[in-house]
This record gives sequence, C-alpha cells and structure tokens, in this order.
Amino acid sequence: MTTTPIADAAALAGDPVRLRDALIARDPLAAADPSAIRVVQAPGRVNLIGEHTDYNEGFVLPVAIDLGIAVAMVPTADGRVELTLAETGETGAFEVGAVGERRGSWLDYVAGMAWALGEAGTGPRGFRGLLASDLPQAAGLSSSAAIEVVSAWALSGGERPPVDPMRLVHVVQRSENGYIGLNNGIMDQFASIFGEPRRALLLDCRSLEHRSVPLPLDEIALVACHSGSARRLEASAYNERRSQCEAAVAAIAGSQPRVRSLRDVTPAMLAAVRETLDPVVTRRAAHIVAENQRVLDAIAAFEAGDLGEVGRLFYASHASLRDLYEVSSPELDALVEIAMSTPGVIGARLTGAGFGGCTINLVRRDAVAALREAVLRDYPPRTGLTPRVFAVEASAGARRLA
Ligand code: GLA
Repeated sequence: MTTTPIADAAALAGDPVRLRDALIARDPLAAADPSAIRVVQAPGRVNLIGEHTDYNEGFVLPVAIDLGIAVAMVPTADGRVELTLAETGETGAFEVGAVGERRGSWLDYVAGMAWALGEAGTGPRGFRGLLASDLPQAAGLSSSAAIEVVSAWALSGGERPPVDPMRLVHVVQRSENGYIGLNNGIMDQFASIFGEPRRALLLDCRSLEHRSVPLPLDEIALVACHSGSARRLEASAYNERRSQCEAAVAAIAGSQPRVRSLRDVTPAMLAAVRETLDPVVTRRAAHIVAENQRVLDAIAAFEAGDLGEVGRLFYASHASLRDLYEVSSPELDALVEIAMSTPGVIGARLTGAGFGGCTINLVRRDAVAALREAVLRDYPPRTGLTPRVFAVEASAGARRLA
C-alpha cells in the first residue's frame, strides 16, 4: 500500500462502494478477490441527557448518529492487521496475538480491541483494510467508541462479533479501560452498537435494561455545534471525576450501608453529609444525583410531548455540568448561551465528557437556519474560534454495509 492521502477521504465513510473501490485500488490482496471484501461501519453518538452518570450506575439517553467510521477490509488467516487511514494514507500494522505497547496513535484503538477480544476468547482475526471517517475527532461525538466498535467487526471477519451485543459493550469498555487507560463508562459503545433510526436509547447502566424512545423528529432537528476547540479530555481529569464520585459513595455509605453507588443516593442523603464532605466531592455528587432524575424526567416529558420541559432539563443539565461537575468550557457556555437566545431552539447543552467538543441542540425544524446564522455570527467574536454547525440524524448501530 502507498502512503498518499485519499482525496475526499471523509466522503468515503458514507459511500461503501467507493470505499471498497479505494481498497481495491490500493491493496493487491483485495484486488485479487473483490468478493472477499466486507465493508463495516460504526456510528458516533450524541448524548441527549445523562452526562457522567454511566460510570455511576445511572441513566443515559444517547442517540447513534449518521456520522461514523467505516472500514473496507478483507479477512486474512495470518493473524496480522494492516490498516490504512484514508485521511492521511498512513498504514499501521500489528499481530492480533501480540498487540504490544500502546503507540499513542489511532492504531491503539484497533489494537486495544484485538487485545480485549482475545481476552474475551472470541479469537480475533487479521485483516487488511482501509478506514474512512466522517465523524469529527475529539469532538465529544465518540470517535473512540466508533473506531473500537468498527474494529470489533473488522477483527471478526467483517461480520457481527460472536458475542452477545451487551457483552460486546463490556469488551469495548475493557479495551478502553485496560489498554487505552481511560476509565470510562459504557454509554458510547452501547449507543454505537444498539443505535436505532429516529430513536434515542434509554440505558440503565446498573441493570443494563434498555429501551428505545421515539423522538418527535418531524418537529425537531438534532443539531450539533462544534466549539472548534478540541475536547481536551485529559484522561486524568475524567478519571479524577470518577474518583471523586467514588469518594462521595464511600463517605455516604459510612452511615447508609445500602449505598453502593451514587445511583442509590437521594438528595436528602446528600444533604445529611454536606457539612462533613469535601465541597468539591459534594458538588460532583450533587450533579450526578440530580442528573439521573433529569434523564427520567426528560423521558416522561418526551413521552408527554412536553418539549418545553425537555428544554428546561437540557439547560439545567448544562448549568450543572458547568457549575457542579465543572467539565464545561467558556466556549461550550458561549454556544449554549447563543442557542438559548435564538427563538425556536428548545434546549442546548454540552454533550459527552465536556472539556471542549460539541453542544447538542434540540431545534424546531424551521429554526435550524436561524441557529446556524446566530452561531456563525456571534460565536467567533466571543471566542476567536470558528464553530461548525451540523444537523445529525438518529441512526442505526454498527453493521455490515456491503
Ligand atoms: C465520555 C465517556 C462516557 C461518558 C461520557 C460522559 O464520552 O466515554 O462513558 O462517561 O464521557 O457522560
């Protein structure tokens, strides 16, 4: 394979025929037997509400989106992965049985998946492939989960991985926690695996019960606004939030032995320990306790058709992430403020881990243009950054496209 970037690489992600042809043009093995080529895809996600609740055994409400990562590949029998990134033309390689140390590059997500699938006993296989993405990276739209999930398919011969889908969610988490070094929850890969067109996905991260929730998409659009500042997701800042939540649980469990996670904590229990708990830890816990309730309230409001209430919950969630969980940024706050003052915007909040990246906006269809205009006009002078505004569709989870 050569190392020239492929022109218009992002467009290949949404076009399995062109992606397949691009693999044939670069890879003699694929060219020799095009019938062996598979194209697999895994989407990114936006989370509607329920932020940082997943690793606290709480509720989340993500949506898989119509942007994602696709891989055209041919399975091989030699246990070796050779994968080219269409965007740069760079090829990375490793042996599935000996993935080695992290390299600090995109290939780690593929290697980490091979390691975790191996550990789970699914016998990952080698392949030669070409990867294309139309999902912005470091934007809080789960490009990590998308590359991991699509890799799980590619490492499984281009077919559905041979494990129960909820088990796969945990194998992906194992790869992220054990290989990449981020102690994240299960929301992102759950959404990428279980996504459904036109629906959001309610997941109880304790019981793992889940159901899909229809969205009133004739009336509203889902609009992501990218702050133009990369999500500065220091694994350390994220992992620190997680430890603070654990510290809150340990303190509360001292007098409430039935408490195992913040999922079990009520506002009254938190009020009872407020005087003795570290104020930062108290703020973190207060966010989680209220955020879990907001997810349930948002579902009820969606189901009652009360979009005004959904919007209030979105803003309350953002304010809580800004003031209590402290994972917002001046840029994300500016985007939310601009959206809030645009008529026809129902709700806006940061989505994903925070620390930069995107907001998600629920917008009346006839107001999408007005939001775009307001953001493009008002955001750059406030921040010195160039935003991106794009409507996303609620889409299916990972699958074979060809
Ligand atoms: C990241 C993590 C998820 C979740 C969100 C915050 O996206 O990967 O597990 O914790 O942050 O809700």
